[in-house]
Amino acid sequence: MSARTPFVVANWKMNKTATEAEAFVAGFRGLLPAPPPGVDLAIAPPFPALERTGRALAGSGVGLAAQDVHAEQKGAYTGEVAASMLADLGVAFCLVGHSERRRDRHETEEQFARKMKRLVEAGIAPLYCVGETLEQRDRGETDAVLADQLTALDLFGPDLPPGFVLAYEPVWAIGTGRAATPEMAQAAHRHLRTLLSRRAGAVAAEAVRVLYGGSVTPANARELFSQPDIDGGLVGGASLNPADFAALAEAAAAATAAPGS
Ligand code: PGA
Repeated sequence: MSARTPFVVANWKMNKTATEAEAFVAGFRGLLPAPPPGVDLAIAPPFPALERTGRALAGSGVGLAAQDVHAEQKGAYTGEVAASMLADLGVAFCLVGHSERRRDRHETEEQFARKMKRLVEAGIAPLYCVGETLEQRDRGETDAVLADQLTALDLFGPDLPPGFVLAYEPVWAIGTGRAATPEMAQAAHRHLRTLLSRRAGAVAAEAVRVLYGGSVTPANARELFSQPDIDGGLVGGASLNPADFAALAEAAAAATAAPGS
C-alpha cells in the first residue's frame, strides 16, 4: 500500500462570500467532525473568505489553502496578494498554475516557479497544477506538455519544494462533467511520477502526492482515488456542498482501505 496520505482539496474558485463559507464549514463539521483517519483535507476559498474560513476551521483538522499568490514578496502590485499575507492567516497550502489562471492570465512556468519560491519562503506548501488541453491530447502531446509544465520546478534544482503537491487536471475535464477515466488519469499520474523521479530521484518522487482534478464527484471519486498513483483530488464544483465534500473525504478513506475495489 502507498505510504502517501490521500489528500482532498476543495477549490472553491470564485464562489462563496465569507458568510457563505462560514455556513459551509458549520454544515461540514456537523457531517464530519474530523477528517476520516488517514485522510488529509483542505479548503481553498477566495481571498476575502480566507480569514473567516480559517477561524471556522480551527480545531477541525481541515487545512486552509489559497488559490493563488503573487510572484514578488511585496511592493507596488495593486490588487495582488503576497505569500507572507497568506501565511499570516494560517494558510498552509496554495494553488499555483491552475489552468483557469494559465488561460486568463497567460502566466508562464517562470512565474509559477517564482510563486512557488515565495510560498516556500513563507512556509506554505505549493500545490502545482498541470494538465493538457483537448487539442494537445488529440495531437498526442500530453506527455510533452506535462514535462514542459514541470519546468517550473527547475528553479529548485534537484530538490522538490518542501511539502510539494502536484495536481493533474486535464483542461478538458474541468467543470465539464467529463472526468478522465481512471485508466487515463493513472497513466498521466504515472508519467508525472516518472518525470519527478528524473528530477528528484525515485524516493522523493514516490513520496509526492499527485492529486487528480476535473469533474470529480462523489460517484466517481472512489474509483479514481483507488488508482495506484492517484493520491486524492482537487475538486471544484463538487466541493461547494458540505455533503458532497464529506462524501469525497469518505471516498478517499475507502479507496485507501481497499484500493482497486
Ligand atoms: P471541477 O474543477 O471539479 O469543477 O471540474 C476542478 C478544478 O478546476 O480544480
